[in-house]
Amino acid sequence: MKIFELKEDLISFLKSQASEKIISFVPTMGALHEGHMSLIESAKQESDLVVCSIFVNPTQFNNTCDLQNYPRSTKKDIELLSHRKCDVLYLPEVKDLYYKNEKSKLFYFNGLDEFMEGASREGHFNGVATIIEKLFRIVNPHLAFFGEKDLQQLQIIKYITKQLDFSIQIIGVPTKREKSGIALSSRNKRLSETDIEKAVLIYQTLQFILKNKSKYTIREIKQICNEKFNSQTILNLEYLEIVGLDNLKPITNFNEKGKNAACIAATISGVRLIDNIIF
Ligand code: PAF
Repeated sequence: MKIFELKEDLISFLKSQASEKIISFVPTMGALHEGHMSLIESAKQESDLVVCSIFVNPTQFNNTCDLQNYPRSTKKDIELLSHRKCDVLYLPEVKDLYYKNEKSKLFYFNGLDEFMEGASREGHFNGVATIIEKLFRIVNPHLAFFGEKDLQQLQIIKYITKQLDFSIQIIGVPTKREKSGIALSSRNKRLSETDIEKAVLIYQTLQFILKNKSKYTIREIKQICNEKFNSQTILNLEYLEIVGLDNLKPITNFNEKGKNAACIAATISGVRLIDNIIF
């Protein structure tokens, strides 16, 4: 695997590649796990050259503590990526991507950022969009892969890719889960075993919604699910929303099959977890 720390070097390497090669891109913030590996595997199947980036993007954290505590395991990440035969890793420092004191650009997301993560994490999606635009300009891939676990991020990236006229196909990859159902996340590394056991409630609630969608109205389902969280004290529910997949706005009646998503954010021992199901 070739590793580049400077964008100039990566750009000239990519320029030296045969023009008919299909290039795919998997941007990450490191602390890689099997969820990321499934992005790499999907990318490998669809392309001739896979570029992964590891960069903990400061502009998407609205909380310095969260940025400082974000897990970092670069050595292990490099081993995992080489083992999976990823072709190229871009591993820049902040100064390769941002000017001194540079802030996020302000984007228009057509309301996709109005609820859920957008409502709870001010400026987060502007930070994500800022770095994704920069990375897309550097790597200029044919395809880019993102996890469905960050559903709002995925839909926002699809939207800005069109808005910025990039001819990049954005591909969402289904969430990888532990046997218990808990979604794989770099943040799980900060949870104790007991926390992990309790965090299963998030997945169980999503499954409950799936199983009971024809039995109750959305209002009733949300009320039952909120009560499940209220009846315990370990997981602190931040939001539980049932939204339309395309505009991510809360709905009162279910859309056609495949066009609904139930999304949850909850905090446990100071660690914020998100998950969703599309149905
Ligand atoms: O999902 C992530 O890991 C990050 O938000 C991303 C897309 C790599 C942008 O920093």
